[in-house]
Amino acid sequence: MDLTEKILKLKKEKKAVILAHNYQRPEIQDLADYVGDSIELSRKASEEKDAEMIVFSAVDFMAESAAILNPRKKVLLPCLGARCPMAQMLTVDEIKRAKKLYPNAPVVLYVNTLASCKAECDVCCTSANAVEVIKSLDADTILFGPDKNLAEYVSEKTGKKLIPIPENGFCPTHLLFQPEDVKVLKMQHPDAVAMAHPECSSEMRKVADFIGSTSKMCRYANESPAKEFIVGTEEGILHRLRKENPKKNFYLAYEGAICPNMKLTTLDRLYASLKEEKNVVKVPEAVANKARASLERMFEVKS
Ligand code: 13P
Ligand code: SF4
Repeated sequence: MDLTEKILKLKKEKKAVILAHNYQRPEIQDLADYVGDSIELSRKASEEKDAEMIVFSAVDFMAESAAILNPRKKVLLPCLGARCPMAQMLTVDEIKRAKKLYPNAPVVLYVNTLASCKAECDVCCTSANAVEVIKSLDADTILFGPDKNLAEYVSEKTGKKLIPIPENGFCPTHLLFQPEDVKVLKMQHPDAVAMAHPECSSEMRKVADFIGSTSKMCRYANESPAKEFIVGTEEGILHRLRKENPKKNFYLAYEGAICPNMKLTTLDRLYASLKEEKNVVKVPEAVANKARASLERMFEVKS
């Protein structure tokens, strides 16, 4: 029996469900019960009723959100070291400092944050619903963190003033994309459509034909009549794009765009974590209760 078969057997025995982010390794995506972007995975985790545990193949903040939204389930993160560096860029102290400077501004936080920070905000958002969340607020000046690029993108879309907290939060993987690379690819593939994640720089967004979350990119590629796509997000998404669109061609806008944290989940680690039920994600109850309110307010916004 190979490792994948062993995992699937164990999963059945333990009544576990495996959720995987669009950036996970192909072999992890292929054995997962569900593959999606951060909002879809949060929804799945919160709605999960039958499973006794959720194996969350992604990074820390996504598994934390699952544990917050479904506190009765055991949530496992196969590799505890899989941490999103952007989520580490914002601290509770920074939020408190910003609140003192702008006491009337609501605080909106990207889900790529620690649970302790989510507990201090008014509402969360993901890249799939950030525009709608900001539009839903009765305020024109909003504290927004930690991704400065997402803040700029949402500000362009809504006309509202978004004050970034911290001043310069970013995703190291998405900053690797350069508009020059897209221009070269467009010369080589003149009919290709360029897609970019809103975590990319404003220069990258300018050369993109479509901007959206990872699953929105998948939907766009599935529905578009185009046959060739330049992809401005982490390379793991190529597996899903190619699987769902075998007759279309996908070119990564920069070959080195790999999130090392997402790749820390391997079949070996997933198997060990499930077998020993180790790497359980726990959020202190007081923090979880406040963070849950911020996440639930996000779910109330239509997008
Ligand atoms: P999505 O919500 O678009 O999947 O993005 C999550 C993320 O971490 C992007 O880097
Ligand atoms: Fe975090 Fe960037 Fe990796 Fe997404 S791609 S998990 S934002 S480091």
